[in-house]
Amino acid sequence: MTDQKPYLTGHYTPVVDEVTATGLTVEGALPPELSGRLVRNSHNPKPGITPTHWFKGSGMVYGLRLRDGRAEWYRNRWVRTPALDGAPYMTEHGPDLTASAAGTHVIEHGGRLLALCEANLPFELTPELETVGAYDFAGTLRTAMTAHPKVDPVSGELHFFGSSPVPPFLTYHVADAGGAIVHSAEVPGASASLKHDFAITRGHVVFVEGSVTFDPAEHSGIPYGWKDEQAARIGVMPRGADGARAIRWFSIEPGNMLHVANAYEDSRGRIVLEGPTVDREGFALSWNWWTGAPGRGSEPVSRSYTRRWVVDPVAGTVDERIVDDLPVEFPTLNEEYLGADNRYQYAVSFPDEAGHGGYGVVKYDRVTGARRIRRVGDARMPSEALFVPAADAGGEDDGYLLTVVTDLKQDASRLLVLDASGLDRVATVHLPHRVSAGLHGSWIPDGGRDGSPDRGRVEGRDAQRG
Ligand SMILES: [Fe+2]
Repeated sequence: MTDQKPYLTGHYTPVVDEVTATGLTVEGALPPELSGRLVRNSHNPKPGITPTHWFKGSGMVYGLRLRDGRAEWYRNRWVRTPALDGAPYMTEHGPDLTASAAGTHVIEHGGRLLALCEANLPFELTPELETVGAYDFAGTLRTAMTAHPKVDPVSGELHFFGSSPVPPFLTYHVADAGGAIVHSAEVPGASASLKHDFAITRGHVVFVEGSVTFDPAEHSGIPYGWKDEQAARIGVMPRGADGARAIRWFSIEPGNMLHVANAYEDSRGRIVLEGPTVDREGFALSWNWWTGAPGRGSEPVSRSYTRRWVVDPVAGTVDERIVDDLPVEFPTLNEEYLGADNRYQYAVSFPDEAGHGGYGVVKYDRVTGARRIRRVGDARMPSEALFVPAADAGGEDDGYLLTVVTDLKQDASRLLVLDASGLDRVATVHLPHRVSAGLHGSWIPDGGRDGSPDRGRVEGRDAQRG
C-alpha cells in the first residue's frame, strides 16, 4: 500500500540509492569563479521506513563539484549516525546527542564539513561526504548545536547556540575562524520556546522565542506545539564575553519564525530583523503537513509571510509589520552583508494554502520595495537559492544564485545557475538522478571565503583523495 505521508511523495520522494557520477553535462557556460562544492542536506529516510515527522527522516547529503567551467562530480550519501540504524534519541541515561537525523543543514567551518540537526551534535563528513562521526569541538561542546549557525563575515567566527526543552534552555557559543570554541554562556531568561534560527548583527546577538514550545503530549517524535500562553519575545544581547548577562527581552505578537532573513543595527541604533513567519493557523497547516496529519496545507509552508521587527532599545518598543504576504521560505542573501543593512534578499516562493501561486526564486529589493519572481516551470521546485559573489564583484547583487530544481515530469534534477541581478539563466548542470526536495546547504568555494588557510585543509584532503 502506498504511503501517503506528504514528505514521502512528490518532490519529497526519498532517493533510494547512493551514487557517484563524474563529468556531468553542462548547458550554457559555468562561470570559472564557480570553483568549489555545493553541498545540501535533506530528510531522506531509507527505503521502507516511514518517519513520524518530516524532520525525523535520516539525513542525506549531496554534493556537486564545480571547477573551471566543468561539473566534475556528484555524490549523495546518507549521514551515518546511530539514528540511521534506529538508535533512539532518549535513552535511560537521558538524551543521546549523537542520535541525530543530521538532515537539516550542512556547513563548512574551520576546515570541517558538518551535517547539522538542531537537537544534536554535528556530524563531521569528509569532502567526499563519507561520515567521520559526531563532532563535539574536541570535547568543548556539551549542548546540542543549532542547524543555523552564523559565520561573521568580518571575523570569520562561527556564532551558534544550543537549545533544549529542559534547563539550561539556551546556551550561546562562539568558535573562532579556526573552529575552536572560545566562548560559551548560558542565556538568562530564555524559555523552552522552539528556537530554529537566530541572528547576529555587527554588535548584537538576536534570539526569537515564538509561540511554539516544548509539549511532551505531542507524539510525532518532535515534542513541540503551539501554546497561546507561551509569550513571544525577541532577545537582544550585546556580542562579547559578558553579553549574555545584559540580554533584554522584548514582547512581540504571537507567531513562529523558522528562518531569519537578516538583522542589523540601523542608523538610529535600532535592531531591524526580518524573516518569514507563521501565525497560529499557518503553523497548524505547516505542522500537519510535517507530520502527515489531516488538515494540512498543500505545502510545508503555505502561509509563511515575511515580517519585519524594529526593536528600539532606548524607547523599549518594537514595531512589527508584515512586509510581504507572498508565501516564501528559505531566505538567503549575499553573506558578506550578514549582520549589516542589506539591500537584496532572496527566497523560494511556495503555493499558498489553496494551492494557488507556484514555486519560484524570489528577489527582494529592500530599497525600492520591488519583488521579482523567476518561475522554474510546471511540476518543478527550486531549492534554497544560495548567493555566490562574482569574481571582483562590485555590487551587493553582483553574483549568482545556485538552486537545484527537481522536476517531477522528467523525474530529474538540475542545478540552475542564475544571474543574481536579473534572475536570468546562466548555466544548467544535469544531475545523474532526481534528488529529494529538502532543506539547507552551502557553497564552499575553493580556498575559502577569503582564501583563508583553514579552508585550505579540506581542499588538501580533497586533493589527496583525488
Ligand atoms: Fe532551517
